[in-house]
Amino acid sequence: MCGIVGYTGPKEAYPIVITGLKRLEYRGYDSTGVALLNGGLKVYKKKGRVAELEDAIVGKNLHSHTGIGHTRWATHGEPSDVNAHPHTSASGKLAMIHNGIIENYAQLKKELTNKGYTFSSETDTEVLLNFIEDIKENNKCDLEEAVRVALKRVTGAYVILLLDEENPDTIIAARKGSPLVIGVGKGEHFLGSDASPMLEYTKEVVYVNDYELAIVKPNELILKNLGNEKITPFVTKLDMELAAIEKGGYDHFMLKEIVEQPSTIHDCLRGRLDANAGTITMSGIQDNIEHFKKANRIIMVACGTSWHAALLAEYIIEELCRIPVEVEYASEFRYRNPIINKGDIIVAISQSGETADTLVAIERAKENGAIIFGVVNVVGSSIARISDGGAYTHAGPEIGVASTKAFTGQLAVLTMMALKIAKEKGTISNDRYKNLLLELEAVPEKVSAILKNAEDLKKIALKYKGASDALFLGRGYNFPIALEGALKLKEISYIHAEGYPAAEMKHGPIALVDENLPVVFIATKDSYHEKIVSNIQEIKARKGKVIAIITEGDDVIPGMADDVFYVPAADEIIAPILSTIPMQLLSYYVGIAKGVDVDKPRNLAKSVTVE
Ligand code: AGP
Ligand code: GLU
Repeated sequence: MCGIVGYTGPKEAYPIVITGLKRLEYRGYDSTGVALLNGGLKVYKKKGRVAELEDAIVGKNLHSHTGIGHTRWATHGEPSDVNAHPHTSASGKLAMIHNGIIENYAQLKKELTNKGYTFSSETDTEVLLNFIEDIKENNKCDLEEAVRVALKRVTGAYVILLLDEENPDTIIAARKGSPLVIGVGKGEHFLGSDASPMLEYTKEVVYVNDYELAIVKPNELILKNLGNEKITPFVTKLDMELAAIEKGGYDHFMLKEIVEQPSTIHDCLRGRLDANAGTITMSGIQDNIEHFKKANRIIMVACGTSWHAALLAEYIIEELCRIPVEVEYASEFRYRNPIINKGDIIVAISQSGETADTLVAIERAKENGAIIFGVVNVVGSSIARISDGGAYTHAGPEIGVASTKAFTGQLAVLTMMALKIAKEKGTISNDRYKNLLLELEAVPEKVSAILKNAEDLKKIALKYKGASDALFLGRGYNFPIALEGALKLKEISYIHAEGYPAAEMKHGPIALVDENLPVVFIATKDSYHEKIVSNIQEIKARKGKVIAIITEGDDVIPGMADDVFYVPAADEIIAPILSTIPMQLLSYYVGIAKGVDVDKPRNLAKSVTVE
């Protein structure tokens, strides 16, 4: 995710671009930059927020009628001045900004390096830009043709905006997989990741589609496909206000981020999981594979929702890799005197990469010779930087305080990690390995299917919103999801909720059960199914209200539960990612029904950078 803005027309470009970037910062904010065309290319960029860039370039020559701007969410290369966009090509004549991930950038970079190209940044974007310029120069074609030829070789996701010194009033844009809106004004055009940069200037917009290329001049918008065939731009009327647009038209960031999960999970798997080839490409694991193969144990350190991801990872890694796993609350781990042996592997899981308890816990472990592997969402964050290796979850900025899309990204990364290590260790059969790759690949589609039934959860939420307490129960791989469901309900609706292993009820907590207590069971079809049916019966025998998350086709539990919600069938190792979605939606709808500010619940912070 990142924010891109462009303008060409009679107005001053810079004020439009910099204001547009501020409106798009919710899409990514680790670094930012602008490129302006005025008798040559001027590029100003730096690490930090848009306001910091604005302050840094006061007094510079910012006059221009054509400009582009970018607020970055890093995927390749940590946030820094040099990795910030716009990037300039080897000749210095082209400038480009990019939203997305170029999956085959390493191959392209190798080809260009062999031709003598050098690179100032670590980004995939700079590679694509020079690939385009290399084609332009070798094929002796114009920039538009060079972009078309280049994009036919690119795999991944992109929106790119290019400026060319030789065409000072033109912006060339193309998209595949990342959003691009073009605002049509009178003798001027606006470009943006969404319509927020152009709202006060025009409500007439063109949504560019995948594999389309736009040549944008003040008085002309030409749309073509990569086959160089012209497409008639379809102009629609915007009816959204700014606040709504930043949330993608959703009422809250939390709902937007829940609904984004099919694409964020896809982005997490992108370039890593290839089920057909039977491969998982994770350089962070590969570079440390001998450590993982020889590890006597793996210690997982995290907080909150990330700790629930760690707990599920324990179950999966022990099952598939046969490596003992210990899961530690970072806040406890850092203060007790844990036994850490040289060569121990510590997996630190964190959305923000800045959680103080987790950061200090791994700093201590590193001092004792442990190897740190970070599973982090924010590229270049403190935990990412201190880690010896890692894997980003690529969920994009998570604005809602409750962790949703980052959590499912963590589960996807950790499942790929377990599969890769198990394959390398030979502790998994080829059939099971292949089957789990296919199952993981199918997750985004199954999450989409679940989201289509979100309204069913709204009905359940309205039925139980008055509860003062709730229990969440699960067994095996679903137990961590029961804990996550309880945390989501607590932090989003302020209803007291507890998660337990379902079989643990009989050791005390079942005393809580009466006709007023809603009990949520994560009861998808797995090797524990018969047992959890008995646990449901135990609750029903005490008049508890049973809400069951079950697998499509389950014809046993509907007869005993008060409410059911179906999720698609999946292998028991993969099913928890799917069961997470109703947990998130249930808490969201209960919170809304109770009038809670679900994006900023009381007492909470998005990143707990204090002890
Ligand atoms: C999750 O919904 C909470 N906001 C919180 O538990 C969070 O998971 C925890 O603070 C850890 O944050 P991190 O993943 O950024 O380290
Ligand atoms: N992959 C590019 C980079 O890491 C763009 C990331 C983004 O979408 O902001 O710089």
